Amino acid sequence: NEIYLQGYGGTRPALTTDATRLEDAARTLLGPEAFHYVAGAAGSGATARANRAAFDHWKIVPRMLTDATERDLSTTVLGTPMSAPVLLAPVGVQSIVHSDGERASARAASALGLPTVLSTASSTSIEDVADAVGDGPRWFQLYWPNDPEVCASILHRARQAGYSVLVVTLDTWSLAWRPCDLDSGYLPFLHGDGMAVPFSDPVFRSRLEKPPEEDTPMAVLRWISMITGTDRGWDALPFLRERWDGPIVLKGIQHVDDARRAVDAGMDGIVVSNHGGRQVDGALAALDALPEIAGAVGDRIEVLFDSGIRTGADIVKALALGARAVLLGRPYVYGLAHGGEDGVRHVLRSVLADLDLTMGLSGHRTPAELTPAVLRRTP
Ligand code: FNR
Repeated sequence: NEIYLQGYGGTRPALTTDATRLEDAARTLLGPEAFHYVAGAAGSGATARANRAAFDHWKIVPRMLTDATERDLSTTVLGTPMSAPVLLAPVGVQSIVHSDGERASARAASALGLPTVLSTASSTSIEDVADAVGDGPRWFQLYWPNDPEVCASILHRARQAGYSVLVVTLDTWSLAWRPCDLDSGYLPFLHGDGMAVPFSDPVFRSRLEKPPEEDTPMAVLRWISMITGTDRGWDALPFLRERWDGPIVLKGIQHVDDARRAVDAGMDGIVVSNHGGRQVDGALAALDALPEIAGAVGDRIEVLFDSGIRTGADIVKALALGARAVLLGRPYVYGLAHGGEDGVRHVLRSVLADLDLTMGLSGHRTPAELTPAVLRRTP
């Protein structure tokens, strides 16, 4: 309400209310390397562009006289109540864009009743982010370390620190071919405060050694590969189930058969995602994978979605196509770059207000009312 009334009342906000324009605003704020790391994608950027274009193929068909003046956006996913079906996507090394990093993002989300998914590659420790959000909802994203004892230690710390859901990212057991980072010679983990989650872990630290002849970037790359792990098989999942007594979500699912296997493996949720187009260039748009997957498994497992969400209408479309909630990535990082916690809050409030109004003006009061019937596919 505040941003809306101020805007129509003649006060210009310090930062745009249009998440599709935040990238331009961040370009002038961040150094070129950090900017390209956040904005960049794999290869030619085809999948990142497809992620956005896919939303344009679906159109909302507004309904009238539905008495949608009062809306309730709240929902509960895997035992976590949230004020709207929106979570902060896990984004690593946020200290490269703002010194308050993940603490600021998590606090902004928590104050609005939204959960944060903290990355294994966070530049702030698991415990510090937990302290920053107090009672606020928090999930933990795992890059699955090669060493089982390191993995168990990180999971134990996350559970002790009150993270309720484990999100296991499957699509990034190696960093992809990202020309913008390769061309600028940029490894974000050498900047900001590095990866505090693994590096603050006592078991991981006990494994670190750097042969004298190895230079620092080489050592860091090797350490990252110890954390991001290796490609495993489906039969590896019981290891995580034995060490995590809460819900487990697999992130990076794009094929309906993988979604079915997640159900068969007893997982609690999936995130239909292509990592914001940052891994397989030429992969299909995440939104194009969603309807088939939600149709096949949506009644047996929680289906979440990310990759390309920028506006309230995007969220309406993803929910209508079967997602229970969406994760927002780059937009909040741009907000963080602009104004720390306040910047993230501004971006989240803008997206939530846009969602609320879009739902109301198209005749819907709750997320549960958003079904495929709300949309029409157009060429
Ligand atoms: C990511 N993403 C990511 N995912 C993950 O599981 N662990 C991580 O550490 C990171 N780190 C990361 C850094 C940066 C700079 C970006 C932009 C993204 C992927 C993220 O969780 C999410 O899948 C995408 O960002 C969603 O796409 P949009 O919303 O950015 O288009």
